[in-house]
Amino acid sequence: MRTEELFDLAPVVPVVVLDDPDAAVPLARALVAGGLPVIEVTLRTAAALAAIERIAAEVPDAVVGAGTIVRPEDAVRAAEAGARFLVSPGCTDRLREAMAATGLAVLPGVSSASEAMALLEHGITAMKFFPAEAAGGAAYLKALGGPLPQVRFCPTGGVTTDNASRYLALPNVGCVGGTWLTPADAVRAGDWDRIEELAAKAAALRP
Ligand code: 3PG
Repeated sequence: MRTEELFDLAPVVPVVVLDDPDAAVPLARALVAGGLPVIEVTLRTAAALAAIERIAAEVPDAVVGAGTIVRPEDAVRAAEAGARFLVSPGCTDRLREAMAATGLAVLPGVSSASEAMALLEHGITAMKFFPAEAAGGAAYLKALGGPLPQVRFCPTGGVTTDNASRYLALPNVGCVGGTWLTPADAVRAGDWDRIEELAAKAAALRP
């Protein structure tokens, strides 16, 4: 799968932080039912790899990926668990090489023109823009589109239902990502209906 194909699947990528691997499958099903099949599970918890494994095995309509890839070995482990794409908050040469070696779709993180240009030198044209709101928001991303129109971004970090449309209106935004679709209290309570509802609202952001 190419990263650009992810952009076509959904306007919003839920960024999921899971403590309980048993929550992974019902959570993924709720997101898919709401219309958001692309799901990023962050490698910030001990449960993350098991969660990716279960979603990959049991929710065939989901396209599950791994986020918070910060070390080369994270890329290898995520690929082994069944992740179909890899997301990192920033990028180094070693990390870029390790992510490319998996053959998976990748969204390396950048927050400046120079960082984006460094990835362009390696043929990478799809990137995470992180931390989106703190780094300058939609206005900043629009400005980057002037000199670098060939790059498409997934802004993440501070993106919510209130500002997502501003990003999605930009030609250089492929999708947006965020944790607002899976509030910790809803996940803890197993309130999958609420998560499906949040997903459905987000899915409607791009008609
Ligand atoms: C991340 O931490 O990778 C995402 O940027 C999530 O950010 P958010 O919690 O602001 O949506």
